[in-house]
Amino acid sequence: MVLFAFLALGLIFTFHSARAESPVQYIGTFPDTDEYPLPIQGNLEAHDPNIIVYDNAYYAFHGGIGVPYFRATSLSGPWESRGKVLKEPSIIKKGARKRPWAPSVIEKNGTFYCYYALTKGGTRQSAIGVATTTNIDDGPWEDHGAVVSTGSSGLNYDVFPYTVSNAIDPAVMQDPADGKFWFTWGSYWTNIWQVALTDDLLSVENPKSPDARNVAYVTLDGRDNVMLKQYPVDYDPQGIRPVEGSFMSYRAPYYYLWFSHGKCCHFPEGRVLPPGGDEYSIRVGRATNITGPYVDKDGRKLTENGGTIVYGSNHGDVYAPGGLGVLTAIGTDQDILYYHYLNKSIGLAHKDAHLGWNYLAYEDGWPVAKSSSNTSTDPSEDGDDSR
Ligand SMILES: *[C@@H]1O[C@H](CO)[C@@H](O)[C@H](O)[C@H]1NC(C)=O
Ligand SMILES: *[C@@H]1O[C@H](CO)[C@@H](O)[C@H](O)[C@H]1NC(C)=O
Ligand SMILES: *[C@@H]1O[C@H](CO)[C@@H](O)[C@H](O)[C@H]1NC(C)=O
Ligand SMILES: *[C@@H]1O[C@H](CO)[C@@H](O)[C@H](O)[C@H]1NC(C)=O
Repeated sequence: MVLFAFLALGLIFTFHSARAESPVQYIGTFPDTDEYPLPIQGNLEAHDPNIIVYDNAYYAFHGGIGVPYFRATSLSGPWESRGKVLKEPSIIKKGARKRPWAPSVIEKNGTFYCYYALTKGGTRQSAIGVATTTNIDDGPWEDHGAVVSTGSSGLNYDVFPYTVSNAIDPAVMQDPADGKFWFTWGSYWTNIWQVALTDDLLSVENPKSPDARNVAYVTLDGRDNVMLKQYPVDYDPQGIRPVEGSFMSYRAPYYYLWFSHGKCCHFPEGRVLPPGGDEYSIRVGRATNITGPYVDKDGRKLTENGGTIVYGSNHGDVYAPGGLGVLTAIGTDQDILYYHYLNKSIGLAHKDAHLGWNYLAYEDGWPVAKSSSNTSTDPSEDGDDSR
């Protein structure tokens, strides 16, 4: 229903690329809503960024050869390269071993864990591996190989739910309630799954029969069958479930499960864009237990098409934001939502994705993107869902 906010008449936009003389043409809808603030520019080219705060600095990782990463003392840069996590191709013999996607990094007791995804685009031939270091600035990182794999080979690929999911887009969070670490993954197919990690964070608990739960899932009634007709690609023949890129965060008293919904990329020049609202947007649900069930603002379960849009295309220029993460207010003044987005004035190619971010405020416990910081604390805002 929230999708109606994006619906507008299809228009043909012609504009001049910042780089080229010739006009770049896209056919479709660039939502011009000012419901969301413009991104604060991160000044970093990044697809699926992941950022951690450590020792008064930000470390940003993104998909690319060897998983490049950067350090800055401001989220808007300047970003200084710290090299790559993987100097060699991943030891996992699967997918694009040199060019991992969508990393996710977490620190535990002085060790940094970088989860990375290997895949062949548009297939379930995927794996999530992990590399560690005790020196985030200079490495070296040690590659420990696979945590999960899907498709027709690899670690426990024949165990449910690896048999029905796609092992990319990892995320990890420590439950503040008991210190346990939880892992989510998934993209299209059966969407987002969650399991507990072992104490060394290198594998899944009970790997041969994991206690796994589906935490977000698109059912195929209604709208998503339209998407199937729009994008007949090699996805699950049963239909397109455009949910991926999960991320978990906590702000008392709620756990939040975030994800990207819609079409992330492949917006070729001169071709028709997806109907407004079917491009990437950032959505969320919340729960009082890290294992869920997660529900959106309308009370809809995330496992039944739920998901409240927190950030989407805006101002006729910002397009398809997604690949997000959240920095919770440890080392920052306020929670921060960061993501990649495309800028119509620059281009809509994969390489044009840039880091953007906004402050998060919570209204009745629901996150709202803001353009400026507001550090004054309103105690009635904290954990009070009764208003
Ligand atoms: C944290 O790391 C230190 C040094 O590696 C080790 O001695 C200590 O046992 C670790 N603590 C925990 C809780 O794992
Ligand atoms: C969360 O739910 C699990 C069952 O899935 C239960 O064992 C656990 O105690 C719950 N945690 C909290 C903090 O309520
Ligand atoms: C989009 O790109 C134009 C041209 O480079 C720039 O002026 C504008 O600030 C950018 N907007 C965002 C939100 O990145
Ligand atoms: C900051 O937040 C408080 C509490 O939500 C609100 O009353 C105040 O108007 C906000 N100030 C600004 C400048 O946004």
